[in-house]
Amino acid sequence: MSVILLPQNQFHLKGKGFSYIFGVNSFNLLTHHYYGAPLPDETDLQYLYQPHRFNDYTAQIDGTQDRYSAVYPEYPVANYGEFRDYAICVEDARGSRVTDLRFEKAEVIGAKPVHPDGIPVATGGETLAVCLFDAVLGLRVTLYYTVYADENVITRRAAIENCGNSPIRLLRALSASLDFFDHDFTILSLPGEHAAERYAQWSPAVYGRTVIGNCRGTSSHQNSPFVALMRKGCTEESGEVYGCSLIYSGSHYECIEVDQYGKTRLLTGIQPETFTWKLDVGEAFETPEAALCYSGEGLGAMSRSYHDFYRNYIVNPNFVHKKRPVVLNSWEGMHFAFDNKRLMAAIDALEGSGIDTFVLDDGWFGARNNATAGLGDWWVNTEKLPGGLKEISDHCRKKGLKFGLWIEPEMINPNSDLFRAHPDWTIHAPDRKPLVARNQCILDLSRRDVLDYIKQTMHRVISESGADYIKWDANRHLTENWSEMLPADRQGELQHRHILGVYELARYLTESFPDIIFEGCSGGGGRFDGAMLRFFPQYWTSDNTDAHDRSIIQFGTGLCFPLGCHSCHVSVSPNIRNGRPISAVTRAAIARQGVLGYEFDPLKVSEEELAAISETVKAYRATEDLILEGDLYRGENSVQNNTMSQTIVSKDKSRAVSVFYYALNNDNKDRLMKVYGLDPNRKYRILETGDVLSGAVLRYAGVPLKKTKSDFVAYLLTFEAVDSLEKV
Ligand code: DGJ
Repeated sequence: MSVILLPQNQFHLKGKGFSYIFGVNSFNLLTHHYYGAPLPDETDLQYLYQPHRFNDYTAQIDGTQDRYSAVYPEYPVANYGEFRDYAICVEDARGSRVTDLRFEKAEVIGAKPVHPDGIPVATGGETLAVCLFDAVLGLRVTLYYTVYADENVITRRAAIENCGNSPIRLLRALSASLDFFDHDFTILSLPGEHAAERYAQWSPAVYGRTVIGNCRGTSSHQNSPFVALMRKGCTEESGEVYGCSLIYSGSHYECIEVDQYGKTRLLTGIQPETFTWKLDVGEAFETPEAALCYSGEGLGAMSRSYHDFYRNYIVNPNFVHKKRPVVLNSWEGMHFAFDNKRLMAAIDALEGSGIDTFVLDDGWFGARNNATAGLGDWWVNTEKLPGGLKEISDHCRKKGLKFGLWIEPEMINPNSDLFRAHPDWTIHAPDRKPLVARNQCILDLSRRDVLDYIKQTMHRVISESGADYIKWDANRHLTENWSEMLPADRQGELQHRHILGVYELARYLTESFPDIIFEGCSGGGGRFDGAMLRFFPQYWTSDNTDAHDRSIIQFGTGLCFPLGCHSCHVSVSPNIRNGRPISAVTRAAIARQGVLGYEFDPLKVSEEELAAISETVKAYRATEDLILEGDLYRGENSVQNNTMSQTIVSKDKSRAVSVFYYALNNDNKDRLMKVYGLDPNRKYRILETGDVLSGAVLRYAGVPLKKTKSDFVAYLLTFEAVDSLEKV
């Protein structure tokens, strides 16, 4: 049983390794009681909550004591008796911004409804719907809680309906709020920038508000919609941590507030700074979903729980468990400098490399000879490619390769025929010159006409291309948030409506071409979020392919997202971005921590290099199932230390692959690599050395690594359980 209904409207959500308990108090307010280690089914915690010693503003003018114990509301409101950050703020027709939500009813609804606006939400689970009502506004808020008997994650979202007599405006509508009765937390978040996405950051939860998130109209490079609160003493292997992952691709908001009483509140949802939503009488709005995760066994268990949850209930089910193409992507090797002849020769040169898909990146259409022109003109540039894309894809097939194609459907260069024909189709502000970034503007996908045009156009492009793989890029963020088609009192809806348009486009294309694998990309890993993974089972993790920087980026990305979603390419040395020379072995070892691919010019690669690539691909294929399905156990971590190590273990613990990486060789000291996650009672053969050691020895004593005089060195070790009588 996942949802346990207790007497007096008390609710116990019980997942694999946690309990979440809340209920209605004597004032009909929905109040949080507990989130943590599993408790007995019938646990009722109402007795814990006495009126708060210092809580004022609870009595009404006639003396009615009305709000005691709402100090830990499940869905806090603005401006009615408390001063902490809140989940919802509603403005009524008179300009009042007070909301007061009281319990109305609750029911277990089994399968949760799909999101009415098409925002990806987790499938499955058992859902409890709790309705709250504000009698003055005629406002109904339904809180959906979905719990999974076999997962450590619950999801939450809110549906808000105007059942009153006049229009209202949502000034804020977050997905979830979580109150804690203590404050000794470390906040783990994932800030970043282009080419340095998801650089994990640890900071103390201090008194006041710590606000994460952004206003960029995308989940962004700058702050991933993820945060974890680690209770004092939490490590990789032990202690309590609460994860919060918002399944949304637009501007988002996470706030951690420690109040005057030492209580902590965590909020997540759509960024209120760039959001308002008008609800006419009878209209409803539904928030994106937040996935909350509790681990009592440290950060490692939290990540493994998120990986399982994302693989089981979010990531595109057509591909999540399937072997992925090993691609050669043309971008870093050729940029815009190609024509038919060069591409054909490049495809020929891949023979014997083990690479199975050739991806033609940017530059194949319109006047796209550099980044200043052509976006929006989605027809083949026949000067470069006289035989069209079909000729390239046919040639790939002849050579036993699949064909992949790059698109950037949401964007437009002002220097394009599309822009010249429809200058009003971009997101721009009235009477102001539109701003460009990377020479481009954004198509306003909140508009039905623009969205329909781009749906048809991309459908044609993909149908005609013969592609087996699509790389979907998006290279700028939103600034002038205004739309030609929205009335003044709905302009605050633009960003959210735009991202709903992106989802509609992605759903339409991925459903129209169910056999084509789509890889997400946004100037690297700028929109790598849970919602995008519903369409794109893998995501280009970063434009930075330097193995050292990637060890940090992939570490941060793996805190929440499964390794099978990280698209990781081996590129040339010295790296084209930062000039750092790193050996082919290290570059491959780091890229093999995700879905392997390559970036190089096939015409500049020697036969020996191709042979080495072929060996790498073979080895990768032998452990690819671990990347797609295995459990990640982190050892050292690259942000805090000079080193990074991790082991990916099969669910039955019979096989594993480990990487150990260090940046600077530290005077060539001996190093021991500890291998986490194996069964301590089984013996494992290390395939690279032939040694047989027990899981316990590997975990606690470790294995020595080769000495070297180089920096930036990574090793891979592969383990197989021998299950024999051999003495260790
Ligand atoms: C940004 C992407 O991240 C790159 O991989 C490449 O596709 C370029 N865009 C092409 O313009």
